[in-house]
Parts: sequence; structure tokens; C-alpha cells
Amino acid sequence: MSATLEETTLETVQGLVAVCRTGDLEPGWGEAAWLEGTQVAVYRTEDDEFFAASHHCPGSGAKVMARGILGDKSIAGARVPTIACPLHKEVYRLDTGDCLSGAAPALPVHPVRLHQGMLWLEAAQ
Ligand code: FES
Repeated sequence: MSATLEETTLETVQGLVAVCRTGDLEPGWGEAAWLEGTQVAVYRTEDDEFFAASHHCPGSGAKVMARGILGDKSIAGARVPTIACPLHKEVYRLDTGDCLSGAAPALPVHPVRLHQGMLWLEAAQ
């Protein structure tokens, strides 16, 4: 498959990498993916919101975050999407990566762009 001019521009000018088709992600679940040699977790919520984070749990380094449990919490009256680590259940905000359930370090999160049915992430610096 050849890249369109728009896709080529996204890659070369904006430094974005196509990770997967949005339709490949099942609502309410995450999947592990490669981002230039690094494992990332990409998520599609039941509300069709898309997020990306490190696949490594910040607490232990275990490569498990794509198998975490998607949910949400109400914070200051706003609904915030969350991911719970499947091992020890620390809960992280998917928008900022902040840990909501303890003093664990933040989960690194990646800004997501959607374009022509693809999910794009910023290339590693
Ligand atoms: S391994 Fe993720 S919270 Fe312990």
C-alpha cells in the first residue's frame, strides 16, 4: 500500500507515525503496539475515545498496560478516562498519566491523532 501525500506529510513534517487502523481496536479494550522499537499500549474506550500510553507499568516495569482495565472516574465534576494495571490495580488517568490510587510514578502517555481511519502517535525524539 502506498502512502498518500497527506500521510507522507504527517510522517515527515509533523513527525507522526501510523500505529494501526482505528477499526482494529475493539471498544473497551487495549492492544500493544510498536512505536519505533518501543512498546506502547493503545486504547479505544466504549465512547470511541482513543488514547495511548507506555505498555510498561510505572510501578514495576512489567509490560502489561495494554491488558489493563479501562474505566473512568469523576474528578471535579468531569469524567476522566482511566486505565488500571492488571497486576496490582494502580489506576492512572489516560489524559495525563497521573496515578489516582497511590504514590506510583505517572504513566507516560502519548498524544493521539486520528486521520483517515488511522491512529497516529508522535515519533520518539
Ligand atoms: S505491576 Fe502495575 S501496579 Fe504493580
